[in-house]
Amino acid sequence: MSGLRAPSNYSEEPPRHPSLMVNSQEPFNAEPPRSALIASYVTPVDLFYKRNHGPIPVLDDTERYRVSICGLVEKPLELSMADIKKFPKHTVTVTLQCAGNRRTAMSKVKPVKGVGWDVSAIGTGHYATSIWGGAKLADVLELVGISKLTSVSPLGGKHVEFVSVDMCKEEKGGPYKSSIPLIQATNLDAEVILAYEMNGETLNRDHGYPLRVIVPGVIGARSVKWLSSIDIIEKECQGFFTQRDYKMFPPSVNWENIDWSTRRPQMDFPVQSVICSLEEENTVKPGKIVVHGYAVSGGGRGIERVDVSFDGGNTWEEAIRYQKSTAVPYVADDTSTGDKWAWVLFKAEADVSHTTEIITKAVDIAGNVQPENVAVIWNLRGILNTSWHRVRVECV
Ligand code: MTE
Repeated sequence: MSGLRAPSNYSEEPPRHPSLMVNSQEPFNAEPPRSALIASYVTPVDLFYKRNHGPIPVLDDTERYRVSICGLVEKPLELSMADIKKFPKHTVTVTLQCAGNRRTAMSKVKPVKGVGWDVSAIGTGHYATSIWGGAKLADVLELVGISKLTSVSPLGGKHVEFVSVDMCKEEKGGPYKSSIPLIQATNLDAEVILAYEMNGETLNRDHGYPLRVIVPGVIGARSVKWLSSIDIIEKECQGFFTQRDYKMFPPSVNWENIDWSTRRPQMDFPVQSVICSLEEENTVKPGKIVVHGYAVSGGGRGIERVDVSFDGGNTWEEAIRYQKSTAVPYVADDTSTGDKWAWVLFKAEADVSHTTEIITKAVDIAGNVQPENVAVIWNLRGILNTSWHRVRVECV
């Protein structure tokens, strides 16, 4: 594809917000301070976590930039950004979470491989696209002869692969890529979109300008940035990030006995909640403590409950949950008042008179609950740390 340039070094990186905590400079991986996440329901673009595997591409959105839709399709197609922007804009509010969120805490059990993250490899954005009337990937795929709700295309395609242009060492200098099942891509209700805006602004370079995929309810790794092609393929993507990364193994698997083929690529993320108004270690005066945080589950499963303990897990109280504003009560699964794919923020308070642990655990509408300890879900890649989030408060 023309109109694209993937630098091989880091001399053309975009400017970034100074308050981001940088976990790796090259490639650039950074997250905001945890307190920034609860300052607003929608995370400001400049504070949104940035997760990259190579230098940021230098692209434009002129006629030179085209996305091809090819592979097992009857009528391959190329779209320019002008083609895409001709159509009405669809907006969906989505919480994107990296599978590596909270990896640093998991690595304290036993070392894991991967960039360390605190609790902020997560954020909520308004993404917009305008593909073909409905703005959904499902509508685009119809243009190449694949109907809605199709699990096998007429030419035998079962997966949709998204290929980028960035150069990643894990792909031996090739582009980042990943895939999702065709049935998800062709399901309007799954709201998979080709996004060119974030929070009402043109996507910025860090987040995939000019066009990226957003796969709601699924680990961030499948939301491929700087889209170059959409390939309809028979087997799931054979690239590194689908086959040899972002899979969850049991604690018994190590780098000597690992067999990547035994596990499926991770898609939905599990139920998660985190306290953001306190650090891991805190010193407080005896009295009332108010805690704020976020809770979210994958697959569009709403948050049924957030339990908070102010005494190390002996007793629990239910937190108040809200999305857009504290004034609007959140009802899980009610899409007339709530955002299906987005987090809830929560608030709970209690008197604390002695040194203790404050803990949060969330329950989603399927009754899934966070595991009590990180050790039982330890895995060598350090992904999906969704254990109870604990912060220590020392009363002085
Ligand atoms: N797409 C490309 N092309 N290259 C990448 O490195 N990282 C993935 C995904 N898409 C990545 C990518 C991962 S692991 C995550 S968590 C999200 O992008 C992060 O998106 P963000 O940087 O916009 O927050």
